[in-house]
Amino acid sequence: MRKLIIAIDGPVGSGKSTLARRVAALMGYVYIDTGAMYRAVALKALRREVPLNAADQLAALTGETRIDLRAKDGAQQVFLDGEDVTTAIRTPEVSQGASKVAVVPGVRHVLVAEQRRAGAQGGVVMEGRDIGSVVFPDAQLKIFLTASPDIRAERRWREHQQKGDAIDLPRTLEEIHERDRRDSGRASSPLVRAKDAVVVDSTAMDSEEVARLVVMLAQNQASAGAAR
Ligand code: DC
Repeated sequence: MRKLIIAIDGPVGSGKSTLARRVAALMGYVYIDTGAMYRAVALKALRREVPLNAADQLAALTGETRIDLRAKDGAQQVFLDGEDVTTAIRTPEVSQGASKVAVVPGVRHVLVAEQRRAGAQGGVVMEGRDIGSVVFPDAQLKIFLTASPDIRAERRWREHQQKGDAIDLPRTLEEIHERDRRDSGRASSPLVRAKDAVVVDSTAMDSEEVARLVVMLAQNQASAGAAR
């Protein structure tokens, strides 16, 4: 069976990471979380006190940054210039920062090139906002995963709670709306559904149901390609 590129896009909190990780595990594919790359750039910019609206400086900073994504026990580890930042990139400050650096075309240009290199051989499940529309417009399977803002906020809030972060549900919902506006409203590669993407609304589905559905679609694609 041929090895596919599976693109999974969707808004914050739609369950993309859980889905992409699970589908990769079930299919024996590599999982690539592209949001982690924008987060790593944001972390570096925050540490260096580069203003998050300084497009030229951010683009230059990205060009001189090495981001490695490594698989370990089914999870993804993120290394920024050799330092393990897997946990450090998950703070609310970095989340907000990432959605700011992600509007900068020069930052996207560098990261998209890296993502294309990483996925070129196939056998990958790549998750982000622009994978099916920009990074791999020819991906054999594109999923646009969505869920209602309320359910996305609730999922995010539970994650925060598990980590012991003191943030309330109304504030989490506000943040979701804020990031949706930024992700969808930006001029450079906004979050859009690729025309040929399969839309999956996970509001009323559990994560395992969604993963099995996507694996079924992937197997159909892989065998259809093999028969051609
Ligand atoms: O999926 P995430 O929350 O880790 O993504 C962090 C930010 O990066 C988010 O605001 C959207 C942005 N992003 C993007 O613009 N393009 C991608 N392919 C992935 C993430």
